[in-house]
Amino acid sequence: MVCCGRALDSPCTLALLVGFQFAFVLYFSLGGFRGLVSVLVHSSEPEFDYSRPHDVYTNLSQLSALLPHQPGPTGAEQRLRDCLLPSPLLVGPVSVRVSSTPSLEEIKEKNPLVMPGGHYRPPGCEPRHHTAIVVPYRNRQSHLRALLYHLHPFLQRQQIHYSIYIVHQSGNSTFNRAKLLNVGVREALKEEDWGCIFLHDVDLLPENDHNTYTCHPQHPSHLSVAMDKFRYRLPYPQYFGGVSAVTPEQYLKMNGFPNQYWGWGGEDDDIAARIRLTGMKIVRPPVAIGHYKMIKHKGDRGNEQNPRRFDLLKHTRLNWRSDGLNSLTYKLLSKELEPLYTNLSVSIGEDPHPPSRKSEPPRNTSHSTARPMRGDAGILSARPTGLQHAHSKPANRSSYGVLKAAVKQEVG
Ligand SMILES: *[C@@H]1O[C@H](CO)[C@@H](O)[C@H](O)[C@H]1NC(C)=O
Ligand SMILES: *[C@@H]1O[C@H](CO)[C@@H](O)[C@H](O)[C@H]1NC(C)=O
Ligand SMILES: *[C@@H]1O[C@H](CO)[C@@H](O)[C@H](O)[C@H]1NC(C)=O
Ligand SMILES: *[C@@H]1O[C@H](CO)[C@@H](O)[C@H](O)[C@H]1NC(C)=O
Ligand SMILES: *[C@@H]1O[C@H](CO)[C@@H](O)[C@H](O)[C@H]1NC(C)=O
Repeated sequence: MVCCGRALDSPCTLALLVGFQFAFVLYFSLGGFRGLVSVLVHSSEPEFDYSRPHDVYTNLSQLSALLPHQPGPTGAEQRLRDCLLPSPLLVGPVSVRVSSTPSLEEIKEKNPLVMPGGHYRPPGCEPRHHTAIVVPYRNRQSHLRALLYHLHPFLQRQQIHYSIYIVHQSGNSTFNRAKLLNVGVREALKEEDWGCIFLHDVDLLPENDHNTYTCHPQHPSHLSVAMDKFRYRLPYPQYFGGVSAVTPEQYLKMNGFPNQYWGWGGEDDDIAARIRLTGMKIVRPPVAIGHYKMIKHKGDRGNEQNPRRFDLLKHTRLNWRSDGLNSLTYKLLSKELEPLYTNLSVSIGEDPHPPSRKSEPPRNTSHSTARPMRGDAGILSARPTGLQHAHSKPANRSSYGVLKAAVKQEVG
């Protein structure tokens, strides 16, 4: 005000105009708001060169070298030092092999340290993370091979203690991903006191080993933030499909996952809604790290789009406390410790509204258990966030003890 008096022709006005013009040119040359933000917060985003990925088996031979010299009989527990964080074996971007995957025997040979059931513990150090990978599954042999070929070396380089559980839905009824996840969580926790549970689609392969398969202590994590299918971007802000992770405590707090979503779609949005309704939020790795490739495939019979998903989603707020872990019933038909995974074969009942298969043939597009962009997000974002309740902390007991107390008896 001191310098800019009244006249339009004052030198100060002119300077302001030139200044604004310069600012606008700068703004747009940086690509508008997005570009400006990325310049301002540039330093926090890591950068990786995905054009020159490493082989996914890089550095794996280093692990055998770390083996204790006399594995010998048990007992004689020598104190191992804690595994380093981050693991010194990480290489960043890794190449993904989606075709001509080796046979299971060959994969086993390439992963000599993996124990029956797909169980692994780093040999040279005490792991700080204990993660169960739960994969809902039916009739996807080639995808399973590609996943095992890729994930085992990927996770071993991270020096975590892990197991891979395949939850096979037996019978011909419509696929129910969320219910299979409930079963997987429960069965995995019967075996070990896992600190973290990964919910993993069979057709998604992580492309960067800095994407560690560990949990956030307070909040559920969503890992597959940048899938090739969605051009390496999050399809919508509440997206929770593909690969995500919860601790047993977080899982309990949201009463597990819904059991009523038969067929493709909706259940991941229901889980995202549960997270908000219980006062938690979704945390994610940076986009530069959360890269995934999806294996393309034809639509599978028995996983038709669920026409009721929008209707179910409208009622999550009313239903989440009564439908979930506390209403889970199933029958474990068999549990086989295969060389590279544990096969949990389960009967989870029948879809009460089976689709008429003739009127809706499976689609040819590469649809998957991972979700494309769609309208569900609208329903969710229209909803007020976070009801004020259920902030109570779970009791401090072993994970399985807590679940056992919370879950009804299995059917059968
Ligand atoms: C892992 O592999 C990378 C790339 O080949 C190499 O630079 C690094 O030294 C290796 N790390 C270890 C611990 O061997
Ligand atoms: C499932 O379907 C296959 C072929 O469509 C049939 O042979 C089989 O008997 C069915 N199984 C059950 C349990 O209904
Ligand atoms: C898992 O076990 C069931 C029952 O034995 C079997 O039908 C199925 O093929 C197995 N799946 C895998 C991937 O091993
Ligand atoms: C879908 O698949 C069917 C049979 O597998 C084929 O005849 C048809 O041409 C395919 N359609 C498209 C759009 O690819
Ligand atoms: C929870 O339990 C563990 C072992 O059972 C114990 O070491 C820890 O101190 C307990 N934490 C709290 C907050 O009570």
